[in-house]
Amino acid sequence: MKKIIVVLLLLLTLGAQLFAQELTSPDGNFKFSFSLTQAGEPMYQLSYKSKPVIKQSRLGIEVKDQQSLASGFTLEKIETSRKDETWDPVWGEVKTIRNNYNELALTLTQSSPKQRSMIIRFRLFNDGLGFRYEFPRQPNLEHFVVKDEVTQFAMTGDHKAFWIPGDFDTNEYTYSTTTLTKADKSARVGSADEIATRNPINGAVQTPLMMKSADGLYINIHEAALVNYPAMILSINKGNLTLTSTLAPDAVGNKAYLQTPSHTPWRTIIVSDKAADILASKTILNLNEPSVIKDTDWIKPTKYVGIWWEMHVGVGTWYYADDVNLTLDNTDWKSLKPNGRHSANTTNTKRYIDFAAKNGFDGVLIEGWNVGWEDWFGQWKENVFDFTTPYPDFDVKELHRYAASKNVKLIMHHETSGSVTNYERRMDDAYKFMKENGYDAVKTGYVGKIIPRGEWHDGQWMVNHYNRVAKKTAEYKIMLDAHEPVRPTGLHRTYPNWLACEAARGNEFNAWSIGSPPEHETILPFTRIMGGPMDYTPGIFQIKMDYYVAKRPFNNQSPNGFAIHTTLAKQLALYVTLYSPLQMAADLPENYERFPDAFEFIKDVAVDWDDTQILEAEPGDFITTARKAKGKEAWFIGAITDEQKRTANMPLTFLKPGQKYLATIYSDKPDADWDKNPMAYQIENVIVTGKTILAINLAPGGGAAVSLKPATTEDLKKWKAYKVKK
Ligand code: NOJ
Ligand code: CA
Repeated sequence: MKKIIVVLLLLLTLGAQLFAQELTSPDGNFKFSFSLTQAGEPMYQLSYKSKPVIKQSRLGIEVKDQQSLASGFTLEKIETSRKDETWDPVWGEVKTIRNNYNELALTLTQSSPKQRSMIIRFRLFNDGLGFRYEFPRQPNLEHFVVKDEVTQFAMTGDHKAFWIPGDFDTNEYTYSTTTLTKADKSARVGSADEIATRNPINGAVQTPLMMKSADGLYINIHEAALVNYPAMILSINKGNLTLTSTLAPDAVGNKAYLQTPSHTPWRTIIVSDKAADILASKTILNLNEPSVIKDTDWIKPTKYVGIWWEMHVGVGTWYYADDVNLTLDNTDWKSLKPNGRHSANTTNTKRYIDFAAKNGFDGVLIEGWNVGWEDWFGQWKENVFDFTTPYPDFDVKELHRYAASKNVKLIMHHETSGSVTNYERRMDDAYKFMKENGYDAVKTGYVGKIIPRGEWHDGQWMVNHYNRVAKKTAEYKIMLDAHEPVRPTGLHRTYPNWLACEAARGNEFNAWSIGSPPEHETILPFTRIMGGPMDYTPGIFQIKMDYYVAKRPFNNQSPNGFAIHTTLAKQLALYVTLYSPLQMAADLPENYERFPDAFEFIKDVAVDWDDTQILEAEPGDFITTARKAKGKEAWFIGAITDEQKRTANMPLTFLKPGQKYLATIYSDKPDADWDKNPMAYQIENVIVTGKTILAINLAPGGGAAVSLKPATTEDLKKWKAYKVKK
């Protein structure tokens, strides 16, 4: 008896575990262990190459008005398994993806006051860990409300973090780079008043959160397969450096309504001692379910232009009349006096269709085509748009005919203005209208406070809405691009018609606000884009916005001082460094016509890939990426830097041995500078092989783009072999 008490005391004083279970990644680099504390609390820890990554951290779920699912557990069953398979995405950065992990599924049981069980499933990959909670069907756990998640990520130090504030409504902030203890509502966050709807939360950060430890580990925390559950932000305990999952609530403060059988999304921790490995990780995709769409032939990676930037720079308007205070039901749109600046008119649309056809673009996006824009923003109004009534100057039938005759697809815009109840009621009619008129891609938008009032963009109700749109558009064979949705979590594997999302601060901010600093695009791939492709809308050639002052006499908001915070060459590089199967050539046709030689790269660059190699990368500093076009012997490289100039190094070892290639290099001129001389670029043709190492100078805030094609005899005669310049 005495002995037992001593052992028990010892266990208690050590806070020791009753049970521990270990798991190793297939390559042996990760070691994971799970344990239950004396109080039956599930705990885990993780190390990489013998360095601790996650210290003892709690797991579990707090349930509203019912017994907690975070303690009182004993272990009932241990199941281990492994998987090593490959699969081919419908589109992507690589042709084939390997899914290789060791799995541990632990059934935990509570015996009092009621008998209940929960499974925690862990998958350990060669680049990180995914885990989720599963709730099997059982008599004592049927319907329940999640009050909070207990999930912790206890960090080993005060890591450097690339973060935006936790916010259940937006991801459109610029990034701050500080240690975890300094991550707070900084000046940058506080002054971000150009974001339409924002509610930054003190002491919390958004995922994907990118960190770097003092001992050289890159750590990324996010989630995968966010379905029927709210998004997670991370609250930082600055005392013990522990991050805790914090869920977006609904209008009455609850987090998630679940019914068994069900499960949470996966929590993901991706780790490496090389930054490039984080960008190459496919773990989030692997944790998502395979495509639910059987016939995917109609899904096509798309390069597009659009009636869009001209409104953002203020030379055109979304709205047709200058009237205000209109309602959908009581307005006779034909009787309104047109303001003369409405961009989405038939003639202008034909001009964009011609431009797209001439330059090989797949699609033309048209914003401002439908009635309601006079009164669309800031009213928290329910019936803003009906998504089926065009303005009097936009001839849907004629444009259908014209676009088809030029083999160009029109892309429809559905701005919900956050009134999602309205959109839900009209979705079917809207998609039918699209199909009747030849549209098979839609860009949705959620600017403004959500209706149902009190809901957040990132709550369970809205998560279900975005997923419902993905599913419904798939039924109609419509491709989808969502702006202002919850940040992606790899669901484009399951719904490959969901080509891209915005869900971050896109290029548009540079048109009408203080914009984003030159480092912005070096951080996005390590954060937001970890969850899925972004519709960033690169390719702006006219860098300074005061160029438009003379062109917008009616617009009283001055664009003076607003600018894209990159060089022109860097705008080209973004087509490669920012992965998306949906890429816009966002500038005005007339601006591309001013720089036809640079425009060649945008026309040329692929949007779907067989292979991707991250040649060098450091979050916040630089990224150099090479990608092979799908089904072609053509490679494209993008290299970008932050505000520091640097030399990008590109060993071309991925090229076919023995083959000579023509490299067309689009780079910053020696005197280029994102602020002082952003549009100074140069283009050079050289012959290279797999043994060449290109060294290209990037200006402050600059970049370079390279296209590589097998050299013809003509090319070999015309161009010299590459030599490194001094
Ligand atoms: C914000 C979107 O990000 C942008 O692309 C769109 O033009 C406006 N909302 C208007 O819907
Ligand atoms: Ca936006």
